[in-house]
Amino acid sequence: MADAVIRFENVYKSFGAHKVLENVSFEVPRGSALCILGRSGTGKSVTIKQMIGLIKPDSGHIYVEGRDVTAMNAAELSRVRRRIGFLFQYSALFDSISVGENVAFPLRRHTNLEEDEIRDVVEKKLARVGLRGIYDKMPSQISGGMQKRVGLARALALDPPILLADEPSSGLDPITSQEIDELLLDLKHTEHTTMVVVTHNIPSARRIGDEIAVLEGGRILDRGSPADLEQSEHAIVREFMTLEGGI
Ligand SMILES: Nc1ncnc2c1ncn2[C@@H]1O[C@H](COP(=O)(O)OP(=O)(O)O)[C@@H](O)[C@H]1O
Ligand SMILES: [Mg+2]
Repeated sequence: MADAVIRFENVYKSFGAHKVLENVSFEVPRGSALCILGRSGTGKSVTIKQMIGLIKPDSGHIYVEGRDVTAMNAAELSRVRRRIGFLFQYSALFDSISVGENVAFPLRRHTNLEEDEIRDVVEKKLARVGLRGIYDKMPSQISGGMQKRVGLARALALDPPILLADEPSSGLDPITSQEIDELLLDLKHTEHTTMVVVTHNIPSARRIGDEIAVLEGGRILDRGSPADLEQSEHAIVREFMTLEGGI
């Protein structure tokens, strides 16, 4: 596909004798959201970590905006990462620095903005995720849902055209997790951000995903719109789609 922002081509990944991914191929068109759905331990996090070169596949290719990240050196990878916001599975905020400094981190690392400009961008990004007046709070002083939002604000700091989110709503109550979904949807609609969202929450995948890919047994068992998957030839996929919670 010409305008695939992310493309996996025959990706294999094992850890020792443990085969995690076996011949995984898919692509994510520009401006669309792919949800990767699967049970715990099926390789969802491994899949998205490979997109930014945190884990290398044993074989196969992974293209981000047409360039193969599996063949990149550190400097090239760094340039790719600048274009990708990454929301980690457990927010992964630095707990010894303030909320604001967490969001400022990528700006200090990748830009030459002045101090007042950094402050300004951080406040804007925090406001974008519905948070105000918490620049100087420490991560431990805010709720889990707010920490996720801060993680999202940090992922958005450099206005990335691509956003990867690993279980953005895990561990949150249904209302808060729905709010995070709404933020992601809003980003897709207003900034046309290309997204890959890992989840094991079916309602979430339905809300966010233009397409859902079901990872099972090391493979993409099936892939398509929520409506397609309800008609899947695989009983397990059809069953997943009837669930009203997580899998
Ligand atoms: N760095 C690693 N070293 C060894 N095994 C790993 C590593 N990362 C992941 N795994 C294993 O790969 C499998 C898939 O992990 P993961 O992608 O985290 O699953 P999930 O779908 O829950 O996100 C798990 O069995 C996990 O233990
Ligand atoms: Mg995971």
